[in-house]
Amino acid sequence: MRRMIISGNWKMYKTLEEMLVFFDELSAWEKNFAHENQILIFPPNLYTITCLEKTRENNIDIGVQNIYFEDFGAYTGEISAPMLTSIGCKDALVGHSERRHIFGETDEEINRKILSLIKHDKNIVFCVGEKENERDDGFTERVLETQLQSGLVDVGEKDMQYITIAYEPVWAIGTGKTATPEIAQEAHAFIRGWLNEHYDSHVAHKTRILYGGSVKVSNCEGLLIQPDIDGALIGGASLKINDFIEIIKKGEVIAKRKEQ
Ligand code: PGA
Repeated sequence: MRRMIISGNWKMYKTLEEMLVFFDELSAWEKNFAHENQILIFPPNLYTITCLEKTRENNIDIGVQNIYFEDFGAYTGEISAPMLTSIGCKDALVGHSERRHIFGETDEEINRKILSLIKHDKNIVFCVGEKENERDDGFTERVLETQLQSGLVDVGEKDMQYITIAYEPVWAIGTGKTATPEIAQEAHAFIRGWLNEHYDSHVAHKTRILYGGSVKVSNCEGLLIQPDIDGALIGGASLKINDFIEIIKKGEVIAKRKEQ
């Protein structure tokens, strides 16, 4: 069975003080909550070291929201995979739609970031997803296929152990318009089918595919129970400690139900 991931993408939210309060509460709660699912948070990169320290005694993983693909060099404002190693950070988000659409990140750059992270032994949450007009025009599968194909150039079967895919339809991110469980499941099944075709059944079976886009307490169960949805990448609701804890708790119940 694939281990479920409940992850939070904080984007550019929270001051240092707010982040510290959040982790004080989450860490204290988590110590007394036995969970099988992975909890993974992507705070603003600036706070990574502090978050790693805050969660040292916990079973909570901390990742960065973005990296650059070169190891070192004159790249003002960027951070790299070897720097993650140097601070003990094992996870990174790559290709989020805000990076693609606001910062103009291309599929080729995303691929280079993925290859750099694999080279440095890091786990990657690789985001894909179609825009609203692409869905309306019936191009969802074609868009997903292109993003998968170009993002995973030169990523071999063995390298796929580092990859988790996050399906995040752009029209559902931060809009309150969640994909219905049926729409999400259909896209996830398509992605798993693609993995089967381009790698093999082992990779298709093992690779976790998360759903992201307006996941909240009220809709998470319907999504997480779907056979091809292996967790959630949560923006807005991951910023609120009570909501995030509720989703973690519900995820745990669903994971147990899926095991049966
Ligand atoms: P949202 O963001 O949950 O606020 O829609 C999800 C994401 O961008 O990963």
